[in-house]
Amino acid sequence: MTAPAQRDTAAWQQADRRHHVHPFVDPAILKEKGPRVVKGAEGCYLIDSDGRRILDGMAGLWCVNVGYGRRELVEAARKQMEELPYYNTFFRSAPTTTIRLTERLSELAPGNLRHVFFSSSGSEANDTVVRLIRRYWDLKGRPEKTTFISRTYAYHGSTMAAASLGGFDAMHAVGGLPLPGFAHIMPPYWFVFAEEGETPDQLGMRAATALEAKIDELGPDKVAAFIGEPVQGAGGVIPPPAGYWAEVQRICRERDILLVADEVITGFGRTGRWFGSETFDIQPDVMTTAKGLSSGYCPISGVILSDPIFAALEDGGAIPHGYTYSGHPVSAAVALENLRIIEEEKLPERVRDDIGPYFHRRAAELRDHPLVGEVRGCGMLLAVELSPDRESRALFDPQGTVAALCHELCWEEGVVIRNMRDVMCAAPPLTISRAEVDELFEKFRGALDRTAAEAGRG
Ligand SMILES: Cc1ncc(COP(=O)(O)O)c(C=O)c1O
Repeated sequence: MTAPAQRDTAAWQQADRRHHVHPFVDPAILKEKGPRVVKGAEGCYLIDSDGRRILDGMAGLWCVNVGYGRRELVEAARKQMEELPYYNTFFRSAPTTTIRLTERLSELAPGNLRHVFFSSSGSEANDTVVRLIRRYWDLKGRPEKTTFISRTYAYHGSTMAAASLGGFDAMHAVGGLPLPGFAHIMPPYWFVFAEEGETPDQLGMRAATALEAKIDELGPDKVAAFIGEPVQGAGGVIPPPAGYWAEVQRICRERDILLVADEVITGFGRTGRWFGSETFDIQPDVMTTAKGLSSGYCPISGVILSDPIFAALEDGGAIPHGYTYSGHPVSAAVALENLRIIEEEKLPERVRDDIGPYFHRRAAELRDHPLVGEVRGCGMLLAVELSPDRESRALFDPQGTVAALCHELCWEEGVVIRNMRDVMCAAPPLTISRAEVDELFEKFRGALDRTAAEAGRG
C-alpha cells in the first residue's frame, strides 16, 4: 500500500474501489471508470488529484454558497475547537455559540419562525419535521392527523422518513418505501406534465388543485402537513409557476394542514432572498434548513418552528428526539460566520440584482441548441432540459443516458454540471464572478455540442 503522500490518482482510485461504498452511483460504472479524486478547492474551483482545476457549477451538492477556501470559516472552526470542541444540547445544556445561532436564525427567518431544532443533515432535519409535526397534532388532540403530502420528484433526503417524503420511485424501491402515512401529488413541472396547449400558469393551478383533491381523498382530518421545496431542486430544478404557492398556501390554511418549506437548497441566498419562502411569498409553519447554513463547511441543519407550533410542543413535556450532534458548537460557529459573510457580502442581493440575472441571460443563449428542450431556473439555480424535440416536449427513450453522457463530457471540459434524468442542473457558489459564469457556459456549450455529436443529434 502506497503512503498517502506518494499516491497518484490510480493509487487513490484503487484504494477507494477496495474500501469505499459510495452513495448514488452505479457500482459497475464506478468499477469501470474509477472515482474522480478531489484533493482541494479554491473559490469556485475544485482541484483534482492530477492538479486539474474544474469549475464547480454545482457548489458541491448545492451547498457551498460562499465558495471554497474561506479563511474566516477555518478560523471560526479553529477558535471554537479550542474553546469548546463539543458539548451537547440534550437535557438542560447548551453551548453559547449554539444559542447565538438560534438567535440569528430567528432574526433571519420570515414571520413567526423563531425556534430552532438542530441536526446534522437535511435528511435528519426532515425526519425531525415528521416526528415533531405528528407530535404537535397529537398534543392538539388530533392524533389521527399523521399523513404527509409531498410531490413526485421532490427530494427531501435519504433516511427512511425523508426518502418516504421524497417522490422518487427508485428510492422507494430500496428499503420498502414509502412508509405508511406518506402520499404524493404531481409537481408543477410544465415540460413533463403539461397537457396539449396548457400554459405554465394553468399547469401550476392544476398541480395546486391536485393537493386539494388529495386532501379531500385522504380526509383533512388525516393530513398533518404538506411539504415542498420552494423550487424543487434535485428533481430537476422546477421553479413554481406564478400563483402556485399562493394557491397551495390557501388550500392548506383552509383545511388546517401545516405547510412545511424545505429550504435545504433554496435557503441562504440561492433564490435572491435569504429564503425561497420570501422569493415566493410563502409563510410556512415550519422550515427545514441545511447545506448553505454552513456553506457545507461543517454538517449542520435546523428545523425552524413557528411560535404556535413551539408553544404547543413546549406544553407537551420532553421531546424524546435528538442527535448527539444536535447544535454541535463547531458547526454552529462556522454557520454563524458563514451567515455573517452572506450578509456582509450581500449575497442574496447580488443573486437577485446582479449575478443571478447575468447567469440567466447567459443560460438563455442555450435555448436554440439542438439538444435543448427548455431552459428554466431562478436565482442561482438552473435547469437545462434536454429533449429530442423541443416543440412536442418529447423525452429521450430510454431516459437519462443523454444527460449522463453530457455530464461526463462537462467534467472533461472542466466544469461540473449535474445530470438528473435528462435534465442538466447548475447551482454554482453565489460568489461566482461574471468571467466564471462565462467560462461555465462556454464549457457547458462545448459539452452539449459534443453530446449532440456523439448522440447523433448535432
Ligand atoms: C431539498 C432537500 N432536502 C433535504 C435534502 C437532504 O439533505 P442531506 O443530504 O443533508 O441529508 C436535500 C439534499 O440534497 C435537499 O435538496
